[in-house]
Amino acid sequence: MVSEYEIKKQICDIGKRIYDRGMVAANDGNISVKISDNEFLCTPTGVSKGFMTPEYICKVDADGNVIQANKGFKPSSEIKMHMRVYKERPDVKAVVHAHPIYATSFAIAGIPLTQPIMPEAVIALGCVPIAEYGTPSTHEIPDAVSKYLQYYDAVLLENHGALAYSDSLLAAYHKMESLEFYAELLFLSKQLGGPQELSKERVEKLYEIRRQFGMTGKHPADVCPNAQAGKPSCHGCKGGCSSSSDGDLVAEITKKVIAALGK
Ligand code: 13P
Repeated sequence: MVSEYEIKKQICDIGKRIYDRGMVAANDGNISVKISDNEFLCTPTGVSKGFMTPEYICKVDADGNVIQANKGFKPSSEIKMHMRVYKERPDVKAVVHAHPIYATSFAIAGIPLTQPIMPEAVIALGCVPIAEYGTPSTHEIPDAVSKYLQYYDAVLLENHGALAYSDSLLAAYHKMESLEFYAELLFLSKQLGGPQELSKERVEKLYEIRRQFGMTGKHPADVCPNAQAGKPSCHGCKGGCSSSSDGDLVAEITKKVIAALGK
């Protein structure tokens, strides 16, 4: 079993990576890892995630209350957002929030990442919706993100940044990296006259590959409410499917089932 100290070091490594890759400026961004049902490690508020050492990392319970924090450190101001992800997605073991330049530009322009433009992005992410704006550190962001959690493993936060989560810290970080790479390609291809989108048939073949690989997490290939209802999936609905009443209903039922199972 990996020790808690080792996980703290991994959080520092990923913090340095997101900082070095320009995915966060100054003290932006936050990272957390689930270590048991009621114990989570998270980055402290107000420090550069590029220069952390294991002593910086705080431990909180499932409600975000401090279990342990060294003098001078308090958990991230966005801990409520992280905890909402863990609460509503029991499969998630790590959450990464950053402000990558291209992805955040799309979030500021109000353009979700819905165009199928290259195989890896279609397989890894499907499409990425924008959760409605919320004031940082309040319940507004978790409430806005909640509606998308049952369908996606990455969301843009309107006028703010991006959120990615997965079954390991490295996988959550990779999601963030793929999301930013996809956003950059989409931006650049728009400058070159607009991307040639993959056809519906090609997208469907990529979804099939994803299913065959047995890839974990949520993806419109498996869970898009439209696709489940036999309608075109996210790549056909321009990211609006999860705001349909069908989508809301499915999300609501899934949340109730998770709550009833006591997870
Ligand atoms: P914290 O330093 O409190 O984690 O906040 C950084 C941030 O990016 C808020 O959105």
